[in-house]
Amino acid sequence: MAGGEAAPETILDGSRFLRACLRRPVDRTPVWFLRQAGRYMQEYRDVRKHHTLVEICKQPELAAEVTITAAEKLGVDAAIIFADLLLPLEPMGLDFEFQAGEGPVVHHPVRTAEDVRALRTDRAADLAYVARAIENVAAHFRERLGIIGFCGAPYTLASYMIEGGGSRNFIYTKQMMYSDPAAWRGLLDKLITVLTEYCRLQVQAGADVIQIFDSWVGSLGLSDYRDYALEASKRLIRAVQEMGVPVIYFGVETAGLLAEMASTGADVIGLDWHQPLDEGWRAVGHGCAVQGNLDPITLFAPVEVLELRVKEILRAAGGRPGHIFNLGHGIVPGTPVENVQAVVRMVHEFRLETDTEAARG
Ligand code: CP3
Repeated sequence: MAGGEAAPETILDGSRFLRACLRRPVDRTPVWFLRQAGRYMQEYRDVRKHHTLVEICKQPELAAEVTITAAEKLGVDAAIIFADLLLPLEPMGLDFEFQAGEGPVVHHPVRTAEDVRALRTDRAADLAYVARAIENVAAHFRERLGIIGFCGAPYTLASYMIEGGGSRNFIYTKQMMYSDPAAWRGLLDKLITVLTEYCRLQVQAGADVIQIFDSWVGSLGLSDYRDYALEASKRLIRAVQEMGVPVIYFGVETAGLLAEMASTGADVIGLDWHQPLDEGWRAVGHGCAVQGNLDPITLFAPVEVLELRVKEILRAAGGRPGHIFNLGHGIVPGTPVENVQAVVRMVHEFRLETDTEAARG
């Protein structure tokens, strides 16, 4: 039993994940994977032969099929809706495309106060196709699995809008942040408006939990996070919690930011793999649940090595209620599916009481 205390015998599979988000005891540690539906999976590649990524996102039956297939094939405790972080850019007035090998490209990046003024905030309802996909997934799984809706955090989405795509140094983003704070705040305000409505559509459609991806927040030092990003994340997180669902707040290379990230009031903090899980949890504070934190590239290791690392994480969690097993970042193309399935088995079969290493240590 992962939770330590006496957990009810009758935990429904679907509530295991939700209970862990709320730091309630569970019968075994819930597990799912960042980017669990994607190119590493043959079934996804087959769908992608006939449709672009955005086509899949915009056709609720297809998005639901991709979501459901991945979750069932892996045997995970939660299904994250198949969508993309950048979808809200379109109703805000920014066209983008995914170029093979290059990732996302925004055609007219936001660089000036005038560009910020031109962004629209009144068309979040255009994203209802994601809500329709969630309804399909919810109808399929009912109570069997937790259903995760998601969106980007204001900082991370602003960085895509300003850089025009992925970035190494975030020069344009930080330039706007430092030299035109009014435009920067205006941009974050607009993002909060749209993202709040977008999350509301997802919750109304049946999302049990919302994950907010602040994937590139690790590009900020602590002072910059405090001065330029924290408040916007906090406002979005609070607004989503008021809808009655827990929020998972995730970023990468965040070891130095964890306490501040937890101060947003998020229910769960997603940890990357750069520090041991117990250290990360201590930094976050035990009043908050944590999700993580296997290095996604460990999935390419021989199964004995993989098992060593998986168990290390479970021991570091120590049976404390409020751990959701996951990766420290998304599954990459080429990952062997059988290793991902093996991790699910390892997590579900793990029992702290019968774990010999833990007993010895
Ligand atoms: O977990 C799942 O089930 C997948 C659903 C999902 C996608 N994007 C589909 C996708 C999720 C949760 C995302 C979130 C997302 N999108 C993030 C945050 C997650 C993270 O890893 O931090 C980010 C930063 C993006 C933006 C994005 N989308 C990038 C940078 C890329 C290109 C990366 C690449 O490998 O090409 C994408 C494309 C994308 N989004 C793919 C998928 C399955 C792969 C491309 C394809 O199928 O054509």
